[in-house]
Amino acid sequence: MDLRSYLRAIRKYWWIVVLVTVVGAGGGLLRNEQATPLYASKVTFFVSTPSESSTTAFNSDQFAQRRANSYAGVLTSDRLGELIIASSGLPMTPGQVAREIKASVQLNTVLLTATVTDPSPDRALKIATAISSQFGGLVDKLDNAGSKTATVALNVVSGPSVSSVPVSPRKKVNLTLGIAIGLILGLAAAVARELADTTVRTPDALRGITDVPVLGTIAYDGVAKKSPLVVGNQVRSLRAEALRQLRTNLRFVDVDNPVKVLVVTSSTASEGKTTSATNLAIVFAEASQRVLLIEADMRRPRVADYLGIDRSVGLTNVLAGQVEVEDVLQQWGDDELWVLPSGSIPPNPSELLSSKNMVDLVQSLRGRFDMIIIDTPPLLPVTDAAVASALSDGVVLVVRYGKTSRTQVVTAVRSLASVDARLLGTIFNMRPSKGLVQGGYDGYGYYEDKPAVNRARAQAAGNPAL
Ligand SMILES: Nc1ncnc2c1ncn2[C@@H]1O[C@H](COP(=O)(O)OP(=O)(O)OP(=O)(O)O)[C@@H](O)[C@H]1O
Ligand SMILES: [Mg+2]
Repeated sequence: MDLRSYLRAIRKYWWIVVLVTVVGAGGGLLRNEQATPLYASKVTFFVSTPSESSTTAFNSDQFAQRRANSYAGVLTSDRLGELIIASSGLPMTPGQVAREIKASVQLNTVLLTATVTDPSPDRALKIATAISSQFGGLVDKLDNAGSKTATVALNVVSGPSVSSVPVSPRKKVNLTLGIAIGLILGLAAAVARELADTTVRTPDALRGITDVPVLGTIAYDGVAKKSPLVVGNQVRSLRAEALRQLRTNLRFVDVDNPVKVLVVTSSTASEGKTTSATNLAIVFAEASQRVLLIEADMRRPRVADYLGIDRSVGLTNVLAGQVEVEDVLQQWGDDELWVLPSGSIPPNPSELLSSKNMVDLVQSLRGRFDMIIIDTPPLLPVTDAAVASALSDGVVLVVRYGKTSRTQVVTAVRSLASVDARLLGTIFNMRPSKGLVQGGYDGYGYYEDKPAVNRARAQAAGNPAL
């Protein structure tokens, strides 16, 4: 994944980032709520060495610094704890008292600080006060055992004092940490979600998987469910323009071997095969071509439904020799668009499609039409489409944005190769329209349902008459 892919993942799954960050912030707040507030009380000692006990001032300072480090250990000792309990009368054990005390020596100084943290500010202060009164005596006893002259003196220089606000929990720090951890986990989750997404989402990816061009990119169109055909007020829609672009690309995909019999299929169900095949037939007819649309999907036939025609007699009846093809072809619309509906649904569609009658029928129809478009079931679950593809001059594979997985596309391409079908290219269907580049390879940008935009573009192109 490159940087742009990461940014795309974050933009796409921004809600995961927000959600996890909010949870992180909530965690920080919860921690603040649940933690017991602790107050700190401090007392600082100045460690000095009487001048007569050392030769120079420098040596005496060094000596005091070394002593201060040892005294830090004495501050957290059980022995001092016992003395503190004895003087303050607190109901604690020496170990408990010792655990509440932290000693620190400021670097290169002779200042020794004892910090007492306790849930009660009063108790913290009591312990610090007891330290200030007991510690000097204890050190004196330890240092000068058996000697009459004191080598070191301890004097309180600040404290004991207690903080008026708790030193723990550190609310701002916890909240910031919660937000930061949430943000990092959220970003990681968004990227992980993107990596786990094995569906095809860009024309580049599709081209990479199939090794054939993306002949058309059709945007997701909310009205397609209700009005699947690009007729009437849909004639100038983005979808219709994309289909016209597809028509042009199909004409030029191989000028030496023009395609006359075209199979439209896909890997799995509901990728937009029938919608694409039917609309492609419409736009080819619109360009004064004599077009035949064959409903060869006998599993879920929909062509007749989309066109609003009767399907009860059609392809299957012709293949069974019950009727002549002329008798069941139906003309649709004002152009030269003819439809061969599926007819009565047989129990063995694959066998019918691979029969000699089917081969002969397609052969006989070739001479009568400029373009024959065959709508088929998906490739992966049944063999019908592979069988029909073998009879055709070329196949276009419909791939649905965000639904068809890369593996499904690869498997579909392999199954076409196994019957020596000629895969011309793909149709990338239902791509979110906001991701499309106007006028780019994706093929949009001339007609739109926005006259003002079209006029402005035409004028910019030096053609105000448009
Ligand atoms: N570009 C599009 N934008 C929005 N919806 C679409 C688009 N293309 C197809 N659809 C919708 O997707 C659904 C499935 O379409 P269609 O019947 O063409 O798929 P199919 O691949 O032929 O399905 P089946 O496997 O059942 O034959 C339909 O409701 C159709 O209106
Ligand atoms: Mg279909």
